[in-house]
Amino acid sequence: MLSNIILFAATASALALPPLEVNLEALLNTPITIIRDDPSDSTISTHKYSQQPIHASDDDDDDDDSPLPVILWHGLGDASNADGLRDTASLLEETHPGTYVHLISATTSPSDRSASFFGNVTEQIDLVCETLQRDPILSTAPAVDAVGFSQGGQFLRGYIERCNNPPVRSLITFGSQHNGISAFEKCKSATDLVCHAANALLKSSTVWSHYVQSHVVPAQYYRDSEDYENYLNYSNFLADINNERPVKNATYKKNLASLRNFVMVMFEDDATVIPKESGWFSQVNMTSGEVVGVRNRTIYEEDWIGLKKLDEGGNLKFEKVRGEHMQLREKDLKRLFGEYFGPLGGKDAGRKVEKVNKVYGVEEMKSDL
Ligand SMILES: *[C@@H]1O[C@H](CO)[C@@H](O)[C@H](O)[C@H]1NC(C)=O
Ligand SMILES: *[C@@H]1O[C@H](CO)[C@@H](O)[C@H](O)[C@H]1NC(C)=O
Ligand SMILES: *[C@@H]1O[C@H](CO)[C@@H](O)[C@H](O)[C@H]1NC(C)=O
Ligand SMILES: *[C@@H]1O[C@H](CO)[C@@H](O)[C@H](O)[C@H]1NC(C)=O
Ligand SMILES: *[C@@H]1O[C@H](CO)[C@@H](O)[C@H](O)[C@H]1NC(C)=O
Repeated sequence: MLSNIILFAATASALALPPLEVNLEALLNTPITIIRDDPSDSTISTHKYSQQPIHASDDDDDDDDSPLPVILWHGLGDASNADGLRDTASLLEETHPGTYVHLISATTSPSDRSASFFGNVTEQIDLVCETLQRDPILSTAPAVDAVGFSQGGQFLRGYIERCNNPPVRSLITFGSQHNGISAFEKCKSATDLVCHAANALLKSSTVWSHYVQSHVVPAQYYRDSEDYENYLNYSNFLADINNERPVKNATYKKNLASLRNFVMVMFEDDATVIPKESGWFSQVNMTSGEVVGVRNRTIYEEDWIGLKKLDEGGNLKFEKVRGEHMQLREKDLKRLFGEYFGPLGGKDAGRKVEKVNKVYGVEEMKSDL
């Protein structure tokens, strides 16, 4: 069962590299970078973020005007105390002053970076569910909005489907792997043995072992349509929350369909996530390169998780932004946060569909679906 891990370790030791854990961490490091509108403008970094609501109690009788709190789940190799996350929190606050931002940590230990690589995602989501329920502000808010960066996007979807308490109004995911990954990463060269060994781990049956499925986080959203039966039998996370198994969980569908908006953002030049179209729930045949958009897939047609219901109500959004994985532009973030977040019942939260489609060219998007 563990032959590939041993092979991996052997490769690593022949190269005098640190063990598997350390190698994966070095390989899969994709922290957020926010590209500011004007590089000489330093307002974001000097705008200090604190997890405090600005108007805590001074306008109690004017609740309609206070923005909903935002929960934010970071990606692989990032940490909830990283600069990119704090900058994002600052942008949320600039877009909707007074926003209470909660940076999710999937572990109780002080540094949560390693929990983005290692652990059982089911247990991580359970922990996040308990933590949010104990937060005095989040648990008393009528609802929250949610931002998921990379794998944090599908984990928040898991939170919504399984727990959703406090309930999420709108979810925005950036470069997430809703339909899984078929490799860890595109290797930069034929001689990058660490990268090739890590990808080989996914391609071997070892990926379906109990050990890997309960410890290696990305393995829990590995999905290869050429190896679909094993995926259905052994995937610890993705096959379940995508309701791909014969017995469907009706709660998952009900909860996801209850979102006001589910906004899936794909990075146009994403060379990290394989395939990047996973960010839009598309299915890619890695041999032929054929892309089947979500609207042509059974998960949508039979509406296993509520995507069709959302779409028919105009609440499933396909957004594309320029740039490589997690290279976020300030103006894109501000536009999306402005568009979909803010006060409960706010007139802006999700009604400007026409404008969005114009900016991004709806014809171009449709042809990709
Ligand atoms: C469906 O998911 C909910 C929420 O996680 C859980 O409580 C319930 O037991 C699940 N139902 C089935 C049939 O698995
Ligand atoms: C992950 O954790 C859940 C909940 O404790 C458990 O039911 C499941 O078997 C675990 N998965 C694996 C692959 O160990
Ligand atoms: C998957 O599970 C089914 C039902 O338990 C079993 O018949 C089948 O052999 C399994 N397939 C693999 C590849 O393990
Ligand atoms: C992917 O494409 C190849 C080549 O066209 C084909 O042989 C294979 O069956 C396809 N895989 C799936 C899962 O459709
Ligand atoms: C997807 O569905 C549309 C309409 O149902 C159809 O016109 C299109 O050819 C389909 N695309 C694929 C790749 O199956």
